[in-house]
Amino acid sequence: MMKELIEKAKNTHSLDKNEIISLLSCNDYDEEIFTAADCIREKYVGNEVYLRALIEFSNACLKDCKYCGLRCSNNNIKRYNLDENEILNCVENAVEFGYKTIVLQSGENNAYSVSKLCKLIQKIKEFDVALTLSIGEKSIEEYKSYKAAGADRFLLRIETSDENLYKQMHPKSDYKNRINCLKNLKTLGYEIGTGCLVGLPNQSIESLADDILFFKEIESDMVGIGPFISHPQTPLSCTPNGDLVLAVKVMALTRLLLPNINIPATTAMETLAKNGQLFALQSGANVVMINFTTDDFKNDYNIYPNKSSANPLSIAENLESINRLVKMSRGNSLSWEKKNK
Ligand code: 5AD
Ligand code: SF4
Repeated sequence: MMKELIEKAKNTHSLDKNEIISLLSCNDYDEEIFTAADCIREKYVGNEVYLRALIEFSNACLKDCKYCGLRCSNNNIKRYNLDENEILNCVENAVEFGYKTIVLQSGENNAYSVSKLCKLIQKIKEFDVALTLSIGEKSIEEYKSYKAAGADRFLLRIETSDENLYKQMHPKSDYKNRINCLKNLKTLGYEIGTGCLVGLPNQSIESLADDILFFKEIESDMVGIGPFISHPQTPLSCTPNGDLVLAVKVMALTRLLLPNINIPATTAMETLAKNGQLFALQSGANVVMINFTTDDFKNDYNIYPNKSSANPLSIAENLESINRLVKMSRGNSLSWEKKNK
């Protein structure tokens, strides 16, 4: 029965909610699921691993997500905003290493005016790189300005598609607005990325199945999935960490159902277990983000404790050890290229 479901996923890239729930609830065929996802990854997106340079340019945040160390209620962290020159220095460093995609990430804040951010985007685009923004929920006009300034992609995880749980976890956010943001980004021509956390309190297997179906429905071009990691300075300090294997399984099923998207092996996976990212890369993932935030600030971007990061100097060697190649291209998602080229 399980084997047939895995075959079906491999061949048709479609499963209904009950079928996903069956696969997520049974642990006896995990190896088969990971191998199937690895095989579909190779068939659709190849053996190359796209590297992205991540710059965490501000840890200020107006939101209060229960799980996150950057939440506005956490007074125990040093907040920072990198200025334009500091950010451009990080970009230059990444470009010297050969990176062709820059990801600008921050907490959700208004520390940078729209015009300042547009100016920065234009300057970064002069380096001839693809640019991804991960700065949270904004108005469609604001998203439009960033697109016009040159931004190519946008990451906005839904975190959970379970509206009730979403409400519990995000006292200052509105679920429908988040979905609206994703739709607006799509309409504006961004390559869009979403994703979820695995292991939130009261998160059911059913809701994880819905998350996977949500990624498909919204036609996401990238999906980032990470295990929840408990942060001591948040209301979830006593909640146990998410399960790495379950998170990788949600990711593997996502690969089976959305074969030609980009899927990162997330930092949270590596944080829970050494070689967690290599495990993910052998279970459906094809992207790794490398942190290029200046060392002086890296440790202040403390969304969860012990955040580990792949090393730019040893990543190629590590990938070669699992017979994968580093690809320093822009690495557009195939799903996006099919619709837009
Ligand atoms: N554990 C794991 N991931 C987290 N994020 C925020 N807090 C945590 C945590 N405690 C993730 C969210 C967000 C991304 C930037 O970091 O999914 O979208
Ligand atoms: Fe802010 Fe993002 Fe953390 Fe939520 S997850 S508190 S929006 S940085």
